Amino acid sequence: MTSTATQGKRGIGAKLIDSDEAYRHWAPTYDSTANPLLALEQRIAPLAKGMFQGKDVVDLGCGTGRWLSRIEACAPQSLTGVDSSEAMLRQAAQRCQTATRLKQADCAASELPDRSADCIVASFVVSYVTDLQAFAGEAARLLRPNGSIFVSDVHPHGRSYGWRRTVKIAAESFEIATEDYTLQQLIAAMREEGFLLTELIEPCFGPQEREIFRRAGKSAAYNDVEAKPVIYWAHFTSASE
Ligand SMILES: C[S@@+](CC[C@H](N)C(=O)[O-])C[C@H]1O[C@@H](n2cnc3c(N)ncnc32)[C@H](O)[C@@H]1O
Repeated sequence: MTSTATQGKRGIGAKLIDSDEAYRHWAPTYDSTANPLLALEQRIAPLAKGMFQGKDVVDLGCGTGRWLSRIEACAPQSLTGVDSSEAMLRQAAQRCQTATRLKQADCAASELPDRSADCIVASFVVSYVTDLQAFAGEAARLLRPNGSIFVSDVHPHGRSYGWRRTVKIAAESFEIATEDYTLQQLIAAMREEGFLLTELIEPCFGPQEREIFRRAGKSAAYNDVEAKPVIYWAHFTSASE
């Protein structure tokens, strides 16, 4: 099983599969495949160690623990990763410290206690969430007053570039079912739950990511989207009380 280094183009007649099935196959190679979207997010995310130090942190849609392992290095008070995929969590368990809790659950219904988090990370998961308002409501339920949630994902314009999220299983390409939320819909859903948007970044790929495309023999795909926003990174804060 291999996965695309970035978004694939929709193959004619590509079969649609749900996220759980896709990540069951993708989990073993998720971390070993260079992905320019994830690389860009890591490069531009304005996260400082102090944002997590001594805080109760939850990573919704934690996957294989890409952010969990970085946050561990920031000395949080507690750290919990939530993901619906058992296969992805198995990878996270190998990578994370034993103090990091991992929970298999829907990120819109985590069953974690009310007001148990100071900070939430939700990276590349929102477009798999079928009920955006429920996701925003869950974040509002989990966060304490003045809490922060960092939401990042493939930019909604990605569809207009012909991008689709794809995985290859036994040499066949499958499209992963996603929701097409606009940034306006995300911001409105978060506002509805009392969140304030404090920062929004919509970056383009740079030379570092161009190199990932080049190594994958996909320079033409880079040229197609050069100077276009390819991901977004949004910081919302919860009300003070
Ligand atoms: C693209 S991966 C991102 C993983 C990780 N956040 C990262 O950035 O590397 C998407 C993850 O979201 C998870 N996921 C999809 N829908 C979910 C849901 N409704 N609740 C919890 N996790 C979900 C998948 O299992 C997968 O691990």
